[in-house]
Amino acid sequence: MIDPRTIEEVDPAMAELIRRDAERQNTSIHLIASENFVSKAVLQATGSVFTNKYAEGYPGRRYYEGCEIIDEMERLAQKRILELLGGVHANVQPHSGAQANMAVYFSLLDIGDTVLGMRLDQGGHLTHGSPVNFSGQYYNFVAYGVDPGTERIDMDEVRKLALEHRPKIVLAGYSAYPRHLEYDKFREIADEIGAVFMVDAAHYIGLVAGKAYPNPVEHADVVTFTTHKALRGARGGAVITNNEEMGLNIQKGLFPAAQGGSLYNQIAGKAVCFHEAAQPAFQAYSQQVIDNAQAMAARFIENGVRLVSGGTDNHMMLLDLRSVDEELTGKVAAKMLDRIGITLNFNTIPFDPRPPFRASGLRIGTPSVTTQGMKEAEMVQVADLVTEALRNHGEERVLAATESRIRELAKQFPPYPEGFVGHI
Ligand SMILES: Cc1ncc(COP(=O)(O)O)c(C=O)c1O
Repeated sequence: MIDPRTIEEVDPAMAELIRRDAERQNTSIHLIASENFVSKAVLQATGSVFTNKYAEGYPGRRYYEGCEIIDEMERLAQKRILELLGGVHANVQPHSGAQANMAVYFSLLDIGDTVLGMRLDQGGHLTHGSPVNFSGQYYNFVAYGVDPGTERIDMDEVRKLALEHRPKIVLAGYSAYPRHLEYDKFREIADEIGAVFMVDAAHYIGLVAGKAYPNPVEHADVVTFTTHKALRGARGGAVITNNEEMGLNIQKGLFPAAQGGSLYNQIAGKAVCFHEAAQPAFQAYSQQVIDNAQAMAARFIENGVRLVSGGTDNHMMLLDLRSVDEELTGKVAAKMLDRIGITLNFNTIPFDPRPPFRASGLRIGTPSVTTQGMKEAEMVQVADLVTEALRNHGEERVLAATESRIRELAKQFPPYPEGFVGHI
């Protein structure tokens, strides 16, 4: 017999933790570039009875019975994402962005093969060859970076390294880079050496879905992404390929190579967000995310704060804290801002003299605040509040006053005004 009681009745300790985090989400300003607030519909799908089902394999070829509805649901998710982004084959099963990348590497590479990707300390991701990640341990990653003058990806260096090392995969994509990617140049380089062109669009695929940022599916052989960042969906990953045979191969790289049964409640939540992202309102949202980032970036520059590459084309910017205070590290600044109601993360900046755990940069993103309903005027206020706090980071009296203004602003834009929305 299923216990019909609510979580408050069954497990008050957990209910209280959820309530407290809902309150944290409702009372701060959220600038983590990889986060967002999902809709009630997404929460309902992820909290649904699809969590009960085992379905190893792919639609029509399962190792368990009772999968007819799961098959229909997974096919719906695949169809929706292909309609949204293009491509010929979609895999919506990866538990995460890291596992989407793992599936591609497992299927297209042999252990020790070479991949050309972006340096982690200049904007790449852990799964692009970090020595502490499986990618760097199993494969020979060669890294390109940004030009020290422009702080944009140095495409001459990408080509030079490609010709020298002849990687099997040329990988574009980032976790901390505020500009467009030159897909056509990456494509040309990959073609010149007969490599696969892969894009990891985890961070910005939501902007692509909303038609506000160039679409990698039009250029790459394979595109991986997460569904929970700018795309504003259930936590998870996905892969799109432009070639059926490669898509089927990558399927095997995920199941059985990297995962067992997938998370069907999460896949349902992905399908809901794909549907939401196909609506005109999501296009307006995506453009607003970028407009907000550009308005905030312009204000930081007016305030004398240096931004990596001098601005942004997407949903994020990187602040160079040395332009505020030579002594202030990213770690100290991020902790201080979190304490007074602004949540973000510290980040290395290109050619950072500090180690990654202290860092000289802050990464700021606008997907969450835009979902909360903030527009350019609020972005200017946020930039001013952040600048004021950074400039006065040791002045508790000033920080207390800044915090009350931050909380006041946050109170006007709660993402979940109904509070605890985890249950249906
Ligand atoms: C470019 C990129 N790829 C992959 C990932 C990994 O995603 P996940 O955290 O879901 O494994 C991220 C996450 O931040 C990312 O930014």
